[in-house]
Amino acid sequence: MSTNPSIPTSKKIDKSLPIVEKYKRYVSQSQAFKYFPIVIAKAKNSRIWDLDGNEYIDFLASAASYNIGHSNDAVVKAVKEHLDKFIHYCLYLYHEPVAELSELLVKITPGDYEKKVIIGLSGGDANDTALKAALAYTRRPRIASFTYSYHGTTALGIAVGGSFDPDLRSTIPFHNVYFLEYPDTYRCVNNIDDPVQCGEEYLSMIDTFFKKKYAGESFAAMIIEPVQGDGGVLVPPENFMRGVRRITQEYGMVLIDDEVQTGMGRTGKLFAIEHFNITPDVIVLGKALGGGMPVSAVVGRREIVESTPPQSFFATSAAHASSVAGAIAAVKYVLENKLHEVAAEKGRYLARRLGELKEKYEVVGDVRGLGLMLGVDVVRDKKSKQPDRTLALKIIWRAWEKGLIMMTYGKYGNVLRIAPPLTIPYEDMDRAVEIIDESIKDAVEGRVPDTVVNYMTAWK
Ligand SMILES: Cc1ncc(COP(=O)(O)O)c(C=O)c1O
Repeated sequence: MSTNPSIPTSKKIDKSLPIVEKYKRYVSQSQAFKYFPIVIAKAKNSRIWDLDGNEYIDFLASAASYNIGHSNDAVVKAVKEHLDKFIHYCLYLYHEPVAELSELLVKITPGDYEKKVIIGLSGGDANDTALKAALAYTRRPRIASFTYSYHGTTALGIAVGGSFDPDLRSTIPFHNVYFLEYPDTYRCVNNIDDPVQCGEEYLSMIDTFFKKKYAGESFAAMIIEPVQGDGGVLVPPENFMRGVRRITQEYGMVLIDDEVQTGMGRTGKLFAIEHFNITPDVIVLGKALGGGMPVSAVVGRREIVESTPPQSFFATSAAHASSVAGAIAAVKYVLENKLHEVAAEKGRYLARRLGELKEKYEVVGDVRGLGLMLGVDVVRDKKSKQPDRTLALKIIWRAWEKGLIMMTYGKYGNVLRIAPPLTIPYEDMDRAVEIIDESIKDAVEGRVPDTVVNYMTAWK
């Protein structure tokens, strides 16, 4: 039994709680985004153990970072070997891993044009770099982004982040960002059911925006996630994405494809943009690129990523040699094991298994996604599609108690986020579906206390 009465669980977490308390005392709440009192002690492939010895299946994979599994042997070996040579030296000297990773990324990313690479530390800093490069390249003042988007937490990242509280956004003195509607085929505007028609509807709103409201020629860039993760796993129709490419070309805007969450095989293709048969001007990578090490990359048209002077996007620890050595091992692991194809196959299986829950429960409104980037939309009932965030939180709480790590996100905070390592065994997926099934039942039948909702800091 938990010794802390404020945590409504009978799970044994006594060793973890003092660490949780220290966080409360010393770590800024601006970094506190905790769903459960799990203090991680060990992780391997799709499993995690906490300080109390509890074992979990990981459906979160550190926010879709561990595509190749936790503590992947190839990455651990590459980093250890590099650490034995030297840890890192800032960008005043050359090192082999950066040259190798840049060459690799130029070769494997879509775009049959001359490309160059800027390596950073996080997805957010890479998006920031891509946006600054686009502003400098075009010398135009405006940026187009999308409602409920997430691109990181640098100043520009907050400015373009459609999922942030507008009050927080207003504190950033860059007000030239305009938010376009990201297509939602489950709750499409004007209740349109047909995805193609739905895509056309959103596209025509964008067309009108640039023709009638703000001249398309005044925009430096449009930044878009090819599947909107934090918006709630929204997969745009292909015609929408093709239209976005046409519009950005028409007005000479840089199309920035934020693949921080979708990249490195997660959606069943190496890069999610490949589902739509379009080529962006810049691709941004992070998370899974490093295989767990802090590495990000902006891969783009040479003239865009070289539009600023040397040292414009320079950080002492950026392109960190040992981390980049890990990233090379991670990218090779994805390629050699064709993990994108594995993700497509496992994703089909898992979507089918989750679809069984949709048949079984009135509160499962939609199961959607691509590859192993899936979302389960929890609703009051199928007909109204009214989002039920409270129920979703109760489901993940009970799932945690039963040994599954899964969080909620989405524009209404009601979508179960499913993003396990692409290397997850089928048995783990089956057990996880069983846990979700039992947890939905418990939550629907009132066996999860309302107070759990107050405990979690969760997406709204
Ligand atoms: C689509 C997308 N872009 C950017 C980021 C920011 O990446 P990071 O947290 O590594 O800065 C995230 C992180 O969740 C993301 O999902």
